[in-house]
Order: sequence, then structure tokens, then C-alpha cells
Amino acid sequence: MRQAQDNFSREIDLLCRLSHPYVLRMFGICADNPTRFMTRAQGGDLRDYIDARGVQSEEERIRIITELAFGLDYLHAKDIAHRDFKSRNVLLTMDKTCKICDFGLSKETGNDTTAGSSLGTPAWSAPEILRGECREVR
Ligand SMILES: Nc1ncnc2c1ncn2[C@@H]1O[C@H](COP(=O)(O)OP(=O)(O)O)[C@@H](O)[C@H]1O
Ligand SMILES: [Mg+2]
Repeated sequence: MRQAQDNFSREIDLLCRLSHPYVLRMFGICADNPTRFMTRAQGGDLRDYIDARGVQSEEERIRIITELAFGLDYLHAKDIAHRDFKSRNVLLTMDKTCKICDFGLSKETGNDTTAGSSLGTPAWSAPEILRGECREVR
């Protein structure tokens, strides 16, 4: 229980420090109850969106990939490994802008990169991690 509370606090603390167009914005949490204040993503998650209608055009495919690449690049520039990146953890706003969310497994890496067991979803893991060519953040 204590561990879960610590993880939750760490996730909120991390999210509150992030500000990027393609990362879900968290403004804070109410101390008295579990209410979180964040940007509302009304378009559901990317997985449901693709399952329901597919990606409509090459232009849309490139826009989605570009937004996610910029979002991940921002996180990596801040030494944050998301570690659970997948379409379920990408929310969409009303105008279908991608927002990377769910930092429950994320880690601020700094110089602390130790080899470890695999996390997240294999289909969404980087090829070099699956090939065992680089060290994964534990
Ligand atoms: N800011 C938000 N706006 C709209 N829906 C949200 C928002 N944050 C979370 N959700 C909904 O809650 C689900 C779970 O959130 P997530 O942060 O991925 O937690 P977890 O997967 O650990 O339960 C999302 O898939 C989404 O449907
Ligand atoms: Mg999730």
C-alpha cells in the first residue's frame, strides 16, 4: 500500500513538471481527495481510435507519428524513460492531438542505467531492446 502511494506521488510529481504539446498536462492534485487536475482528453485513446476507423490517410499517419516522436524526444531530453509507451497510453484531444499519458512505470534515468528485465508491452518496445543490444532502464 505504502509502495503504491509512493509510486502515485512520484507519478504526479513528475507529471506536474512536464509541459509539452504532446504530453498530457497535469496541473496538480487535491490534497484532501484523489481528484487530479489535468488536461481533459475527450477523444479517447489512440488504440480505440485506430481500431474503430483506422488511420484515414498518409497525412494523418505522419502527423500521429511526428507528434509522438516529438513527445518522446521531449521526455528523453529530460532523462525520462516512459517504459509503458503504447497506443492505450496515448490520449486524444477533441481535435485529435496526441497526448502521451500514464507515467506509472516511468523513471527519471539520469546516469542510473542498469540492465534489467523487460517492462511494458513487447510489441511497443524499441527493436534494440528486444535484440538485447542495449541496456534497459530498470
Ligand atoms: N486526462 C484524461 N482525459 C481523459 N481520459 C483520461 C485522462 N487520464 C486518464 N484517462 C482515462 O483513463 C484511462 C487510464 O489512464 P492511465 O493514466 O493510462 O492509467 P492506467 O492505465 O495506469 O490505469 C485512459 O486510458 C483514459 O481512458
Ligand atoms: Mg494506461
